[in-house]
Amino acid sequence: MTSELEGRVALITGGAGGIGQAIGRRFVAAGATVALADIDVDGAAAAAKALTDGGAAAAGFGGDVSRVADVEALVASVVDRFGRIDVLVNNAGFMGRTAPLWELSDQDWQRVLDVDLTSVFLVSRAVIPHMRRAQRGSIVSIASIAGKEGTPQLIPYSVAKAGIIAFTKALGKEVILEGIRVNCVAPAVVETRLLEQLPSEAVQAMLSKAPMGRFGTADEVAAVVHFLVSDAASFITAQCIDASGGRATY
Ligand SMILES: NC(=O)c1ccc[n+]([C@@H]2O[C@H](COP(=O)([O-])OP(=O)(O)OC[C@H]3O[C@@H](n4cnc5c(N)ncnc54)[C@H](O)[C@@H]3O)[C@@H](O)[C@H]2O)c1
Repeated sequence: MTSELEGRVALITGGAGGIGQAIGRRFVAAGATVALADIDVDGAAAAAKALTDGGAAAAGFGGDVSRVADVEALVASVVDRFGRIDVLVNNAGFMGRTAPLWELSDQDWQRVLDVDLTSVFLVSRAVIPHMRRAQRGSIVSIASIAGKEGTPQLIPYSVAKAGIIAFTKALGKEVILEGIRVNCVAPAVVETRLLEQLPSEAVQAMLSKAPMGRFGTADEVAAVVHFLVSDAASFITAQCIDASGGRATY
């Protein structure tokens, strides 16, 4: 238990999922108050309860982060409950259907772009006025190595994650003099429920590309996010940091 995030309020989207929960555990261990938001309301409530049972300040919130009305209501509820938002982790996401371009429907494309990229725009836009008022804040979004390499049969996902990297670099520069840092993390494959969205041959193909011969863990991604939101990373902004076990080459 450390106190480096003591007094800070963190909103984590996709907070019922594997990486979201790991970030929540890591943040409360560092003293933060944590708001876990997820379209899976029961999952977010259960994850928050696990934190509060351990003595932490936490709460679960529902909502679809791709819908502007849900996002505005979510941010208002978190500020109402905890007074402010110092840290935002844009983590909600899904992979979409594994298929070649010519088999993708308009809806396959649009839903992944909405959930994985538009959500980052919507939630960041709703949170940033609070951070600008405080002249302090940190935003970390979870991109993916897919956004750097381009993963075949996951074109919408790859494009959305590449968009997060560009969004991070642009927003980071916009608020650079306002005490707000904006970064993203690009993990390679991490063992969570997300992998259930892939055919097992695709998972095996990904494992064969892992230089360490294993996938990452949610806790390993959470450690990078923790570092980025902490004061130890005070000179790091508008960056994409890899957590890829040596897979990323640029
Ligand atoms: N697991 C990996 O291999 C991996 C690798 C790179 C990046 N990522 C990214 O990490 C993030 C977290 O993924 P994870 O591995 O923990 O997966 P996960 O499926 O365990 O968690 C994702 C969470 O996002 C929530 N969610 C999905 N759509 C939502 C919406 N519209 N509104 C609100 N919440 C929504 C889900 O309910 C789920 O709880 C994702 O953005 C994912 O793309 C994961």
